[in-house]
Amino acid sequence: MLGSRLTVILVAGARPNFMKIAPILRALQRSGHRGIIVHTGQHYDDSMSGSFFRDLDIRTPDYHLGIGSASHAVQTARVMEAFEPILLVEKPDWVLVPGDVNSTLACALVCAKLKETTGVRLAHLEAGLRSNDWRMPEEVNRVLTDRCSDLLLIPSHDATANLRREGIDERRIAFIGNVMIDTLLDRLPTARVLDVPTSLGLTPSDYVLATLHRPSNVDDRAMLSICLSALGVIAGERPVVLPMHPRTRKQVSTFGLDALLAPLRVIDPIGYMEMLGLSDSAAAVVTDSGGVQEETTALGVPCVTLREQTERPVTVTEGTNQLAPWPLSTDGILRTYRDAVSRGRVGVGARSPEGWDGHAAERAVLALEGMR
Ligand code: UD1
Repeated sequence: MLGSRLTVILVAGARPNFMKIAPILRALQRSGHRGIIVHTGQHYDDSMSGSFFRDLDIRTPDYHLGIGSASHAVQTARVMEAFEPILLVEKPDWVLVPGDVNSTLACALVCAKLKETTGVRLAHLEAGLRSNDWRMPEEVNRVLTDRCSDLLLIPSHDATANLRREGIDERRIAFIGNVMIDTLLDRLPTARVLDVPTSLGLTPSDYVLATLHRPSNVDDRAMLSICLSALGVIAGERPVVLPMHPRTRKQVSTFGLDALLAPLRVIDPIGYMEMLGLSDSAAAVVTDSGGVQEETTALGVPCVTLREQTERPVTVTEGTNQLAPWPLSTDGILRTYRDAVSRGRVGVGARSPEGWDGHAAERAVLALEGMR
């Protein structure tokens, strides 16, 4: 039962945020609340931002901060400076920040500093995930955002133990499940109709989809070369499609590794529907993305993750994800890939963790309403 109408600012800055805010916006609207979209502009290329708004049917943001690329400090500071006046004008009940990107932490800090004077409360969507690797900018963003938050919306139960260890009051934690999977389940039928693999000349179930953008993999010449070499060997067995993140493209050319791309089908970054269609029909996915580990688990597609650890352990313990042995080596990646392919595809929902059911956004709105 709706007590009063809530005003909620939803922050979206970078590619992985857009699929998380889309279902929340719809759930807020269904419950008669007001959602205000603030796009920080951390990602700005059409292929990294605009196309997602179209694919996910998100209306034009109410505010666009136009921050763009810069060092971590400058990017974070610029978002803070631009976000503060919006908070002061809109005086929302809640600010909801998704994920772990620099925009997430920047807006969380602004809320924490203005809490006393404005009464605004902060909700962190995808709270409690931990890689325990403090070298990752995302880990710094996660831990500090959780510390600032009044409501921690967690996607999986492992997050509770992480937060408890950090002394977070359990009354602030709400298990809602995975909002990204709300979007995935909603869009999958349309993505299937588009038949993206065939339109790219690929045979469904007989190609590998790869993504690579994590600084620890692509900002180091030796690591980048190991990852690309392994993909090159796989490409000798079945086609490997690599939609290339701008950061990766820049690093390949800086390190002079262009020759390693020759065996691969390198394409520009792709939109949400294309990515979903390609993941859904792949024999396996090789990635260092957090979101892709979750999406492949929901789709029941084998996933090989090129990371030392994952902040999303349920994708390994319950889902279809496997970590390649660390330190990464071409052989290690290939062994894990072969094992993953031999396990095969299990189908949508066959290995989905609790709450990855298409209703996480509704539970998020109930949690916001419950903490009046
Ligand atoms: C950011 C997130 C990361 C997320 C990733 C998804 C942080 C700390 N990292 O990393 O968690 O997984 O987004 O993509 O927030 N660039 C463009 N066009 C764009 C955006 C970026 O060309 O639209 C280029 C710029 O040269 C920029 C570089 O990519 O310097 C990196 O972008 P940035 O947003 O700083 O970090 P990501 O690596 O994308």
